[in-house]
Amino acid sequence: MATVHFEDTEVNVAPGSNLLEALLTAGHDIPNSCRAGACQSCMMQLIEGELPAAAQQGLKATHKAQGYFLACCCEPEAGLRVQRNPASQTVSAVVVDKELLPGRVLRLRMSADIHYRPGQFVNLVRDDGLSRAYSLASVPELERELEVQIRVHEDGQFSQWAQQKLAIGDTLKVQGAFGDCFYLAEQKQQPLLLAGTGTGLSPLYGIVRDALRVGHDGPIHLFAGSRVADDLYLDKELRALDAVYQNFSYTPVVLEGAVPEGGGENGDLNQVLKSRFPDTKGYRAYFCGSPQRVQALRKQTFLAGASMQDIHCDLFTPSSQAVVA
Ligand code: FES
Repeated sequence: MATVHFEDTEVNVAPGSNLLEALLTAGHDIPNSCRAGACQSCMMQLIEGELPAAAQQGLKATHKAQGYFLACCCEPEAGLRVQRNPASQTVSAVVVDKELLPGRVLRLRMSADIHYRPGQFVNLVRDDGLSRAYSLASVPELERELEVQIRVHEDGQFSQWAQQKLAIGDTLKVQGAFGDCFYLAEQKQQPLLLAGTGTGLSPLYGIVRDALRVGHDGPIHLFAGSRVADDLYLDKELRALDAVYQNFSYTPVVLEGAVPEGGGENGDLNQVLKSRFPDTKGYRAYFCGSPQRVQALRKQTFLAGASMQDIHCDLFTPSSQAVVA
């Protein structure tokens, strides 16, 4: 049993349990989603003591150096003193708009006062505590409301509720923002390669518009993969950007059936990228979607020459819609 000091209280973490469980059991409101080390929403900071190595597994060196760790992976062997992640925040959000887009994607717009970058993600928390992580498609400098795009799964507890019950004017809690898959306005000549499937387009839509907003000069290639053309839920918006910005190109890639009216490619997204970008040296890449696809994209882009530190990924885990940068 290890004792952990947190906000003027002490909690005991039993062997086989973890700090997140202990803090939640003690009644503390700690952001969390996947509870498996994937989404990083439970990130906290060490003040004193020695962390088990597993608590920092997968974190960036810069985070580790600052003592950040994941509470859900922290099974301390000795006493610790910890604090909340100073970057995390929980605020109320009011639903101002909801719209069902093609591909059973629910676009939810909320007014909420949080600081974030497009492409980061937030936890949306229902009154009963049920929470899911969703990426932010909005750009704070371009629009006042937060926007998330939620794939409505047939058996999705949160997404079904959001589609059927959540109404304009209702309030949700928003925790975050988290993650570091976002655009940084440096090396504006660098070519950008972005690809995603399903609602993996949501963070990419925010990242692309952010890059264009600040005048990124290098070419920006966005590929949207889908099983069929009808599920390409941002097709119109992305074609409109393509028409306006000379350095931006949008390519939908469909696995089955005809490509959309405005053009696109047939085939598997990863294969299309492999043949279109045999040399990715010097590229900055952003990939979002299912873990299997994103990891494969990361690997092939790295093997084709891109530096690993220039490849930014959000992996959506299916059960929680959680995202990790
Ligand atoms: Fe700890 Fe997701 S809740 S990493």
